[in-house]
Amino acid sequence: MISDAKKEEIRDAADIVEVVSDYVKLKRSGTGFTGLCPYHNEKTPSFHVTPRLGIFKCFGCGESGDVFKFIMDQGGLNFNEALRQLADRFGVFLPVEESSYEEQVFEKEREGILHALKFAGVFFYRSLMEDEEAESARNYLENRGYGPDIIKRFGLGYAPASGNALLQAAESAGIDISYLLGADLIKERNGGDGHYDTFRGRLMFPIFNPTGKVIAFAGRILGQEKTAKYINSAQTLVYNKSEVVYGLNFSKNQIRKDKKVILVEGYTDVISLHQHGIEHVVASSGTALTPGQLRTLHRFGEQITMIYDSDDAGQNAMKKGILLALDEGLEVQLLELPDGEDPDSFVKQFGPESFLDMVQKTQMDFVDFLLLKAQEEGRLQAPISLAKVISELIEAIAHIPDTIQRQVYIQHLHQRTQQYRKGTDHELFEELERALRERKAQKERAQRREKRNTFAQNTPAPPFQDHELGPVPIDSEGIPIDGLYPPSTNIQSKPSTPKPHYEKELIRLMISFGRPMVQYVGGLTNERLFEDSELKAFFEDIIQRYKEELDFSVQHYASREAPYPALVGDIFTEIHTASHRHSEKTGIEFKKDRDPYRTVKSTLKALEIHYYKVKRAELAEQFKIATPEEKKELVGVQAEIQKKITQRESTDSELLYPDPEGAEDGSTRAKSFHYVMKKDREQGKES
Ligand code: CTP
Ligand code: MN
Repeated sequence: MISDAKKEEIRDAADIVEVVSDYVKLKRSGTGFTGLCPYHNEKTPSFHVTPRLGIFKCFGCGESGDVFKFIMDQGGLNFNEALRQLADRFGVFLPVEESSYEEQVFEKEREGILHALKFAGVFFYRSLMEDEEAESARNYLENRGYGPDIIKRFGLGYAPASGNALLQAAESAGIDISYLLGADLIKERNGGDGHYDTFRGRLMFPIFNPTGKVIAFAGRILGQEKTAKYINSAQTLVYNKSEVVYGLNFSKNQIRKDKKVILVEGYTDVISLHQHGIEHVVASSGTALTPGQLRTLHRFGEQITMIYDSDDAGQNAMKKGILLALDEGLEVQLLELPDGEDPDSFVKQFGPESFLDMVQKTQMDFVDFLLLKAQEEGRLQAPISLAKVISELIEAIAHIPDTIQRQVYIQHLHQRTQQYRKGTDHELFEELERALRERKAQKERAQRREKRNTFAQNTPAPPFQDHELGPVPIDSEGIPIDGLYPPSTNIQSKPSTPKPHYEKELIRLMISFGRPMVQYVGGLTNERLFEDSELKAFFEDIIQRYKEELDFSVQHYASREAPYPALVGDIFTEIHTASHRHSEKTGIEFKKDRDPYRTVKSTLKALEIHYYKVKRAELAEQFKIATPEEKKELVGVQAEIQKKITQRESTDSELLYPDPEGAEDGSTRAKSFHYVMKKDREQGKES
């Protein structure tokens, strides 16, 4: 946490006029400044900034606040991010003690990766502008009507076709290979012998975070090559696919003003609409739309208009998107373009006015849209299919979180279907109640199932899907052949459920303290005690890599396939907050890891107690439905388990587990501390 004193220091240092000027054209007026309000649409300025007081206020819409509020709203940042950004910008020093050792490692890794991505962005842009080889790429863009301005604005580029042009340039610029790997800009050659560029001979689209930093790339083929049309960066420490939408950095101000956003399918749709002055547009970028992406959008706007391509794939994706958008509490509108058109082709042909006019006139709410689809499919005639359509619609309405809105939509549905069915809206409301009850029951069932499954001891956790991709086809240089290799877009990150703390803690300790720690932990426990299937697989992976004497550092996992980067992030940030609260209370930093072996022991104790308690609860469930014969047996098992719990609960963890081999009293502490310091020094040297 950043202290209040620091916060005030940042507030004093930050120039609110300069910050606001990034978003609003300000004119001096008296002792303050005025401009057009970024919170609402207006033609005459009623937005005032008073630097003396460090505040802003709009006399049109009433929004007001300080520099932190402004940058949180307009930059889409949380409070801590806002503080850090302003501290960075106005040169306020945030002492390193403000973050834990792990967080520093993690932060450094993120910064290294972001730096590598920025370098690559400039490199690809330069190649596009200057390389002879990029001639075809330049022609291609020109044919699509993308001039120098829009190319520069969106940072488009060209990745040279040779195997390692970026790698070489980055290396001679002193960029660490581990960061290039962590950014998924290069990949390890098959057989571990050298590296090659991830993107080769492609048109490059940088993907930015909402504050405008490059966090990933998409590379498009230039012609009709028979390979994947796009290659997208894999999930990394700085790129969480399930939350990123393409173009938000360019569109967020407009979205906030209009409270509306247009969601399209393609990168080129976003760019073309922007080029024609339509700025409240984003794309879901290389993945099917996710709840996380909608949550991101909801931070900026309230209404979403989905305009997907008019092909089947696009229309089906839109149908799925409806439910997700309703779940998120967004108002959703849909629009079907004329056959064969996408937003890009439409706006180029007819211009922005026609485009906006068409959106205004032809967008529909989801009830009308789904009814229209049903009508096109001939499902409104026969009573059976009509009934099915109506229940589907009611089920969709049940996704809306707001009660009043649900009512309004039911009435709307009633009115729209009156011509097909007799009766009142009463039956529809009854059906809605049933659907709501069913949803609730379903959620509860799913929760119970999850609990049971993660603990079913005899069914091993499913291996990560990524491992099942099979051998990668390679060319003579050991470089995978695009198109045959499943594009990394297919690797969807799973929705992150909260993970058990003790399990994360053990993995953190193994990664932080290296081989001796893995040996120690591996000798005392095994993966069976892990509830969470991802963490279980993570644990097994570390043990495996330990056995094969391979690297299992933060850096390694940050650049591995999903879900590793996200897991590493989760594991190493949680500890940050935990040890922080601790250090705020005690004033001592890193106390937790003074003696990591002691931490292991208490973590194991807690993990085992938890494990046996879950077993005990399972037995109690079995007991309820057991025959008298079985009950007798279960009682015995129950007693065994209870003994284990009691024993652990009543014994100090120091006595429950042996010390690591070769450790005399106190020596483990010195050794482990030495290890950290040494690692720290090595890392310092590298950068
Ligand atoms: N996409 C992807 N991987 C592919 C194909 C598509 O990630 N192999 C994603 C991209 O985000 C792409 C979007 O789906 O922008 C829409 O695909 P498509 O319409 O085929 O591409 P456009 O970007 O619209 O390109 P173009 O206008 O050149 O057809
Ligand atoms: Mn398209």
